[in-house]
Amino acid sequence: MLQHIVVEDKSDARILVGMETHDDAGVFQWDETHALVQTIDFFTPVVDDPEIFGRIAAVNALSDIYAMGGVPMTALNLLAIPAGELEPEVVARMLEGGRRVLEDHHTALLGGHSIDDPEPKMGYQVTGMVHPEHIWRNSTAQAGDVLWLTKPVGTGVVIKALKDGVLSAEALQEATSMMVTSNAASADAVRSLGDPGSCTDVTGFGLLGHAWEMAGAAGVSVRVVGREVPILAGASSHARAGRFPAGSRRNLDYVRPHLDDRLGDPLLTAMLSDAVTSGGLLFTFPEARAREVTEAFRARGLALYRIGRIEEGPSRIILE
Ligand code: CO
Ligand code: CO
Repeated sequence: MLQHIVVEDKSDARILVGMETHDDAGVFQWDETHALVQTIDFFTPVVDDPEIFGRIAAVNALSDIYAMGGVPMTALNLLAIPAGELEPEVVARMLEGGRRVLEDHHTALLGGHSIDDPEPKMGYQVTGMVHPEHIWRNSTAQAGDVLWLTKPVGTGVVIKALKDGVLSAEALQEATSMMVTSNAASADAVRSLGDPGSCTDVTGFGLLGHAWEMAGAAGVSVRVVGREVPILAGASSHARAGRFPAGSRRNLDYVRPHLDDRLGDPLLTAMLSDAVTSGGLLFTFPEARAREVTEAFRARGLALYRIGRIEEGPSRIILE
């Protein structure tokens, strides 16, 4: 999620997407028409219900495959549990939640590995397939593209409030239903239109962090209209109380040198850099296709928010 390990390898021509552009997953050419998409993600429990945590872990791991334009095929489970402290029943429910999501996405669970760790963690390594000419990169946005987002932000604040014991059941329900919502259907809607200008998903680096990766990699300015960005209803009061996790603060520190903040609303700026778990797709299409994009999502009953546009460089985020 937040920490990407960067070891550049330009020696192997089969690496179609490596680590240089901080993309969602690596892509490796298999033959003329097939490339492997590979990603791994795991984290500590974000909700108390083990079955729901398992579902979120799987939906989140699969998302990076969809964000590359790929289709998931296989998965391996990663599990860290405090030996003897966690009921076997709880572990079984975490695994069952993940298993059901993988099954729903026709992804075969081939195995996994567990270790003894005082802090529980779970996630998946996922392998998918993509056509080498139809890879959705985060680095190819062009001036004139419209910027779209499919899910609200605000889960970092909500999860912090949950851990602090001050989250309402209603706010938990809202955030949970967002985090267990797969990006598969949104990716299908995008695919029905052809390849997007660029695509990524919003996770631990926050909306502005991922927008900056788009801007930096493509040499463009990403203009984000702050008040058009959907935010979980249950997140606002906790944001006002300053309940941002440490990761969200680091995100904002990291992005700030590249941020032209014309919003004049520090709280909203902070919310837009809030660390997200299992967030939506963030993608672009040329302005001329905006109506088709809206229509494809509406026809499928899927949420879609127009939150900005891509402009000529320099690389930066303009927040208005
Ligand atoms: Co990730
Ligand atoms: Co991603």
